Amino acid sequence: MKKRVLSGMRPTGKLHLGHLVGALNNWAKLQEEYECFFMVADWHALMSEYALPSAIKENIIDNVVDWISCGVSGEKSTIFIQSEVNAHLDLFIILSCLAPLGWLERCPTYKEQLKELEEKNITTYGFLGYPVLQAADILIYKGEFVPVGEDQLPHLELTREISRRFNSLYKRDVLIAPQPLLTSFPRLLGLDGRKMSKSYGNCIYLSDAPDAIQKKVMSMITDPARIKLSDPGHPEICNVHSYYAVFKPEVKAEVDKQCRAAGIGCTECKKRLASILIERLNPIQSMRKKLLSDKQQILDIIDRGKNKAREVTSIVMAEVKKAMGL
Ligand code: TRP
Ligand code: SF4
Repeated sequence: MKKRVLSGMRPTGKLHLGHLVGALNNWAKLQEEYECFFMVADWHALMSEYALPSAIKENIIDNVVDWISCGVSGEKSTIFIQSEVNAHLDLFIILSCLAPLGWLERCPTYKEQLKELEEKNITTYGFLGYPVLQAADILIYKGEFVPVGEDQLPHLELTREISRRFNSLYKRDVLIAPQPLLTSFPRLLGLDGRKMSKSYGNCIYLSDAPDAIQKKVMSMITDPARIKLSDPGHPEICNVHSYYAVFKPEVKAEVDKQCRAAGIGCTECKKRLASILIERLNPIQSMRKKLLSDKQQILDIIDRGKNKAREVTSIVMAEVKKAMGL
């Protein structure tokens, strides 16, 4: 029996290179070894986007198209939409009853998000419960492993604590404490050197046309000490160089040498990087186009995913209720 993996992504915008190297490449690999459930976390998106919810709907299909274009398979994996599988909310309300407020208020991601998303007013009842819904997402599948970025570790820990609290309250080992799957993927920063994020406007999107990619790469900040072509560079502090490390590791050493020896200018170096990225995204974008011209294919995948997810979660939900005597 393959071990079960569950992960999710919020449909809050178009997907970018950060999603590719931080999650999607990894998901595509995991599905060869695990029984994978990949979820569009639309209820989670609503928790921060409630004031402008119509974009969520558009993003759902677009994101799934990107997942599949990046190699996540609707045959090997179960791809589904969170809001189409009601058991998530059923378990959420149960876990809400037993999750102590203090655990949620102390959650470091909660405090960070309050600061980061100041303009969105997420001092709401729903947003405080964000990690409880995430716990329900995971526990309702008895998911053993959850591939997440480091920023999500507090939510995994909370999930583990909630599962232990449930099992000890009802004296049954029904819920399984999941393990994070922290693969050491490279961290990709945005064009300006900050975290790649829609709200910073520093992303290269998976759907960006070649000339847009070219333009964006040319705008990247390089080693500020290189003013003239003859100034030797410091690739270790240059964001362009880290992109080489991620997307063309085999030429990384050579770029490093040329940069230090002032044998290549930043303009040339960025032009080369732009073509590498364009080439890398080319097959993804052709697949994207194909899928967008036949949306029925995507709808079918999501429909099958929904059925499979409902089947699995109804079994666990029955166990949960039985343990509680409901
Ligand atoms: N909170 C996750 C994020 O922002 C998304 C998510 C929702 C998730 N439910 C999940 C991730 C369950 C893993 C498992 O990235
Ligand atoms: Fe960065 Fe390349 Fe310029 Fe060196 S040559 S500083 S690696 S852009």
